[in-house]
Amino acid sequence: MKNLVSMKDLSVEQILAILKQAQAFREGAVSTLKNKYTMANLFFEPSTRTKMSFEMAERKLQLEVLPFDAGFSSTLKGETLYDTVKVLESIGLDALVIRHEQNNYFNELVGKVRPAIINGGDGTGNHPTQSLLDIFTIWQEFGGLKDKIVTIVGDIAHSRVARSNADALTRLGAKIHFVCPREWQAEFETTNSFDDVIEVSDVLMMLRVQHERHDGSISFSKEEYHQSYGLTLERESRMKEGSIIMHPAPFNRDVEIANELVECERSRIFKQMENGVYIRMAVIEMILKGRE
Ligand code: CP
Repeated sequence: MKNLVSMKDLSVEQILAILKQAQAFREGAVSTLKNKYTMANLFFEPSTRTKMSFEMAERKLQLEVLPFDAGFSSTLKGETLYDTVKVLESIGLDALVIRHEQNNYFNELVGKVRPAIINGGDGTGNHPTQSLLDIFTIWQEFGGLKDKIVTIVGDIAHSRVARSNADALTRLGAKIHFVCPREWQAEFETTNSFDDVIEVSDVLMMLRVQHERHDGSISFSKEEYHQSYGLTLERESRMKEGSIIMHPAPFNRDVEIANELVECERSRIFKQMENGVYIRMAVIEMILKGRE
């Protein structure tokens, strides 16, 4: 593996190898990278989890990390993403994590620049390391994904998390239900009846309503959304024994998930964030080893 831009880049065997290495890192394994590599994290959209956990992963792998601030970069003077990456290639960067609002931004980079490209999220397209940490969290919980029922609820149309998970979870043998209001349907078969699937689901994965990607034409009430599509206390009480709650975060308390449920016993939301560091260590190590 030389880059990671989409879950479609990974075979099932590679996904399982990443999970095993992430587990080894969780248990204290140290990196076996032979060289001292230099990385940078280029975030052109806001991020807390992905950016900080990539940086933590890079530091735990003993890599050099050069700071990059998109808000003070020459992209503000019109420099293109391609030219920005060529600058970083010229000064010796080995790998770049990039988040960008443009879907498939990586098509103009992969195979054309020397640094490895790791996608930290492209528009509404892909978020492969989020999908891997979600899979890792489910795998830890149930020992595998075969025949597990995962229900993904919310703003499906604008969710790169839903898209990345749709592909990967299905290939790993899980069954997915998508629940969303009619106006946020995507390319998947969806239902707008959350209540029909609560009791059968092993995982309820709640998604954030991405107002920043909406054009403002749909009227939105937090209270109405919470009653129709939110994980309320009443809905949680009907979840099956052993089932878990996930959310890629950031979450809106009392919109897609009741405030009290964010840290409840079933919630794995902060475990997902913890797992993100180990998954990103495994991905970076695999990519850099692929270049040694
Ligand atoms: N889950 C996720 O991508 O969060 P951030 O936007 O904070 O990185």
